[in-house]
Amino acid sequence: MAHGAAIQLKGVSKRFDSGLQALGQVDFDLRAGEFVSIVGPSGCGKSTLLRIVAGLIASSTGECRRPADIETAFVFQEAALLPWRTVERNAQLLMELEGHKPEDYRARAAEALKLVGLAGFEKSYPHQLSGGMRMRLSLARALALRPDLLLLDEPLAAVDELTRDVLQEELSALWKQAGFTGVLVTHNVHEAVYLSDRVVVMSPRPGRILEVIDVPFAFPRAPELRATPEFAQLTGEVTAALRRKAIA
Ligand SMILES: Nc1ncnc2c1ncn2[C@@H]1O[C@H](COP(=O)(O)OP(=O)(O)OP(=O)(O)O)[C@@H](O)[C@H]1O
Ligand SMILES: [Mg+2]
Repeated sequence: MAHGAAIQLKGVSKRFDSGLQALGQVDFDLRAGEFVSIVGPSGCGKSTLLRIVAGLIASSTGECRRPADIETAFVFQEAALLPWRTVERNAQLLMELEGHKPEDYRARAAEALKLVGLAGFEKSYPHQLSGGMRMRLSLARALALRPDLLLLDEPLAAVDELTRDVLQEELSALWKQAGFTGVLVTHNVHEAVYLSDRVVVMSPRPGRILEVIDVPFAFPRAPELRATPEFAQLTGEVTAALRRKAIA
């Protein structure tokens, strides 16, 4: 059982070697076990910020304080599966790379596949799956790590709207069950509100946090929540914040 990691970003900015300032100054405290979505215009530094939170790249200034021994899993926009491996072998991949024992990674991958609804497809290959199923496999591979911190970079961008709704509901249930801290980058304001405790709205590049909007709806969230006036009110607020010009 993961415990959810708390992360503190203090004065974090990022300037790439090319001289491009991707991120302005970002200060943010991610609480243990919460789910936060990041929305913002294309190129504003969302993926860069996620990579800093993951510890994959260093910030130029400030610091990202993360507990030393947390398990972090990253789900990329493209499912990035190995086509020559079966579903179960793909689901085992990250644990295998981390040096876990076969008896452990086999059991955990099987469990994760069941969680995302892919039981019965263990012996299939990625090309035999639908886009939504490939995405679930990518998610299962990350969940098999039992992450304390799960970082999702637009994982649902490529699936149709109906599948997307279903996957959002499944992701929300998984998050509740598994207890990880979640950070999701998305362009979809409805998705951000539906899944999150808080929504972070970023400015155009160099990205800074313009607003942090609390989402007060209790979990678990019913699919019908999306049709309520309160939900529409909140998505409207996030959209308005996105449209507001960044103040220099
Ligand atoms: N490794 C890199 N070297 C130089 N510049 C980079 C690098 N990675 C990203 N950038 C630049 O940093 C800026 C922010 O990129 P980033 O990928 O974080 O944006 P984003 O908000 O995720 O955009 P999108 O919504 O389109 O995915 C972009 O202008 C991009 O060109
Ligand atoms: Mg991105």
